[in-house]
Amino acid sequence: MPNFDPHGLAERSHAEYVECNTLDEMIRENLVAERVAIESYKEMISYLGHDDPTTKRLLESILAKEEEHAEDLSSMLRVVAPRPPLKAVSA
Ligand SMILES: [Fe+2]
Repeated sequence: MPNFDPHGLAERSHAEYVECNTLDEMIRENLVAERVAIESYKEMISYLGHDDPTTKRLLESILAKEEEHAEDLSSMLRVVAPRPPLKAVSA
């Protein structure tokens, strides 16, 4: 059963909430969160293995969207604040 209780939402989140003061920082933190999401979906897909192909396909489609989001944010960051890219988050 989904748990939408806002009191525990931050505790259960895979990514941290970080206060930002500039557009550059906001995009960078959002990119970190997207990469955390990508790793989380990869772990879920790996966990499923061959046990639940329908759920696996659903997670793979979500993973593809998260990868698009990360690429979009990387592109924005290159325009807003050209610097070396962030390294991928590993588990
Ligand atoms: Fe996303």
